[in-house]
Amino acid sequence: MRDPGYYGGIVQSIETPDRRGRTANIALGFDNLADYLTKNSPYFGCITGRYANRIAKGRFTLDGTTYQLAVNNGENHLHGGDVGFDKRVWQAREIREHGAVGLRLTYVSPAGEEKYPGTLSVTVTYRLTVRNEIRIDYHATTDAPTIVNLTNHTYFNLAGEGSGSIYDHRLRLNASRYTPVDPTLIPTGSLDPVAGTPMDFRRPTAIGARIRDNFQQLLLGQGYDHNFVLDRRDDTSLALAARVSEPTSGRTVTIRTAEPGIQFYSGNFLDGTLVGTGGHIYRQGDGFALETQHFPDSPNQPSFPSTVLRPDGVYQTTTVYEFGTTSAG
Ligand code: BGC
Repeated sequence: MRDPGYYGGIVQSIETPDRRGRTANIALGFDNLADYLTKNSPYFGCITGRYANRIAKGRFTLDGTTYQLAVNNGENHLHGGDVGFDKRVWQAREIREHGAVGLRLTYVSPAGEEKYPGTLSVTVTYRLTVRNEIRIDYHATTDAPTIVNLTNHTYFNLAGEGSGSIYDHRLRLNASRYTPVDPTLIPTGSLDPVAGTPMDFRRPTAIGARIRDNFQQLLLGQGYDHNFVLDRRDDTSLALAARVSEPTSGRTVTIRTAEPGIQFYSGNFLDGTLVGTGGHIYRQGDGFALETQHFPDSPNQPSFPSTVLRPDGVYQTTTVYEFGTTSAG
């Protein structure tokens, strides 16, 4: 049978047990395809690309040529433009391996799509492993110099989607620095220490504990919407990025990645206009996203790790989400 294709690489639901074995769907989303197509999904569960997060004014220069991408978020480019990878139909092949099942998704983005240079051939592999992990491997090659930055945009609520706010969830981020932003949420270019600020999640802290602090960066993001610079020993291996636990259910998620950064987004722009999978309305703070990535606006920030991909190179990266429970409250 011909593969009918897979819209946006969207992870629609993730069912995990709580500490007493009761299962709930902990990923925000819709219960039908039509809503993803028509309801202006805020990137629920999808693959974002070619460039996850923002590029200032949608513009960058590569090898002396300036490219103007779509401007779809105020004056900036967000998550790949008007029709990013979240809205493309991917080819899907089932994987069955020892210790894992999954899907291999492929998509060839033609040169000029969303005004990006280079034909980008992308493979994203989802695996569900016997260790209660979702492992995502990203791979891309190009036939001309281009930029690429891929992530998955799942929103989590470990108490179950539609169950209310995530402000009681305890978050630990393995990051001593973050990239502060300007009023349009573009990094200023500096890497600021988190120490002594509400951005410090080096010890597990409730997401809501300081979200109403009078701290300029929280005003700009209307909450947390920031890229954190991961503390890592080397550039390539999987390193701990984040761990979240929810006190009532005991559910946890631990995220490891090969990427240098992670966007922590506290669902600030969920505004009560969307009805989720279980029939409940999503309001501000009802889900959080932790998007492993290169830093926003890297093509315009020479001091940030590079997102340039050339024909002789391979883009390859991995993120693992491990689900569990804790008995601690
Ligand atoms: C961005 C937010 C944005 C959200 C949904 C996040 O990755 O950082 O600013 O609102 O995605 O589009």
